[in-house]
Amino acid sequence: MALIKIDAARRIGSVDKNIYGGFVEHLGRCIYGGIYEEGSPLSDEHGFRKDVMEAVQALHLPILRWPGGNFVSGYHWTDGIGPVDRRPRQLELAWHSVESNRFGTDEFMRYCEVMNIEPYICVNMGTGTMDEARSWVEYCNGTGDTYWANLRRQNGHPEPYNVKYWGLGNEMYGSWQIGRLSAEDYVKKAREFAKVMKWTDPSIQLVGCGETGWTEWDQTVIAGLAPLIDYYSLHLYTGSDDYYSNVLAPALVDFALESCRATIDRVRFNQQISHPIHIAYDEWNVWFRQRSAESALEERYNLADALAVSSYLNSFVRHSDTVKMANLAQLVNVIAPIFTSKEGLFLQTIYHPLRLYAEQMQEVTLDVHVDCKQLTLTADQERSRGSNSIAALGPFKALDVTVTSDPDGHELAIAVVNRDLEQDHTTTIQFADPATITRGQVYEVNATDPSSTNSFEQPDAVIVQERQLELEGGNLTYTFPAHSLTILRLH
Ligand code: AHR
Repeated sequence: MALIKIDAARRIGSVDKNIYGGFVEHLGRCIYGGIYEEGSPLSDEHGFRKDVMEAVQALHLPILRWPGGNFVSGYHWTDGIGPVDRRPRQLELAWHSVESNRFGTDEFMRYCEVMNIEPYICVNMGTGTMDEARSWVEYCNGTGDTYWANLRRQNGHPEPYNVKYWGLGNEMYGSWQIGRLSAEDYVKKAREFAKVMKWTDPSIQLVGCGETGWTEWDQTVIAGLAPLIDYYSLHLYTGSDDYYSNVLAPALVDFALESCRATIDRVRFNQQISHPIHIAYDEWNVWFRQRSAESALEERYNLADALAVSSYLNSFVRHSDTVKMANLAQLVNVIAPIFTSKEGLFLQTIYHPLRLYAEQMQEVTLDVHVDCKQLTLTADQERSRGSNSIAALGPFKALDVTVTSDPDGHELAIAVVNRDLEQDHTTTIQFADPATITRGQVYEVNATDPSSTNSFEQPDAVIVQERQLELEGGNLTYTFPAHSLTILRLH
């Protein structure tokens, strides 16, 4: 029998809603044919797909990163403003396509406004100049009688957009990036970008470009940019067609966060930096099947992938004192929870945990004691994307558990990913104060087979099952089924 012990007094952090954020890039059918399809009977007067908006709304997305990704390192934002028919069609080198620029800053801002989502813009540090980056801030946030602020007014938006979050480039360490830099060169360049962007609008929050969280790049960049940045970004993609390699891979997130947190703490201490530097996991997902630009990254997800996504979310919640933003890459069609055709859409398996966590998890993370079967992954068994060994991080608990409460400690939300492929786990859930728990609701994501996949033909192969939980006071015994995500809401 497994054991989960919960004490609402043992609080370890407050969950920032921005960990349930998203990301849209000019890549394949994410924007064009995804969130934006002018002339479609499914779109509104602005060209936004209404069915997609409805699906996005249910994800309670608080923040959206744009316009890339690799795309941004060749993107000149001024190509995407003003009369649409005069915008240049540009050869796009990151994904080897053509960018029509029909969707630009004002369209993105309108989308965020209509959807009540906070915008997060990443600037071009590949082919882009410092002046381009700072004038983008001025175009969005300027209030004076200046060229860029007036141009925004002329383009139909008298009020400033007040974009708060700005990313200092994307994956500048990678050979695949237009304008790749060494860590030292990136620091030098990013300092100057940061300076003029903050001088343009001192209220903005800057996000430094991080790698995995445990590399030399991370050490150098955190040390070099600490005085200027408010967030440090990490990226991680995992996945495997081996079940255990896939569902256990998010252990890398815990490792990344703990390593990166230690570096940030050390640098802040040594440099006597008083402002906080949080982590923004601004790209993360399962992604290993559709890797090429030709595939347009149209990954189809199964139940195992949804369990991995649940464990990513568990890691963010578990480290809620450190991670204050995370952006699932991406939102529609491209490695995404929502998949469209010209006629409609279906929800991928990974959509369900994303919706459930944003909807059900509470504001305060609680420390939790879990005693259960351990799983091991041997180096021979491991078949994973990337070169970092997950096996070395084991053994792993079969039950990956996080617990949150409301600020009063009355409402509890317990997320349990049972990663065991074969075995259900009957578990005693022990409360420090059992008398307060009288009612409950269960949300379960599961299917007969972890390879079950949703599609246009079978949109409901993996869905959320919901039921009431009968409680008799005192502790609770609950059986978590093999290969499932369960969220228990107790009050
Ligand atoms: O999300 C897909 C790509 O993955 C992004 O463009 C890039 O930043 C990352 O390598």
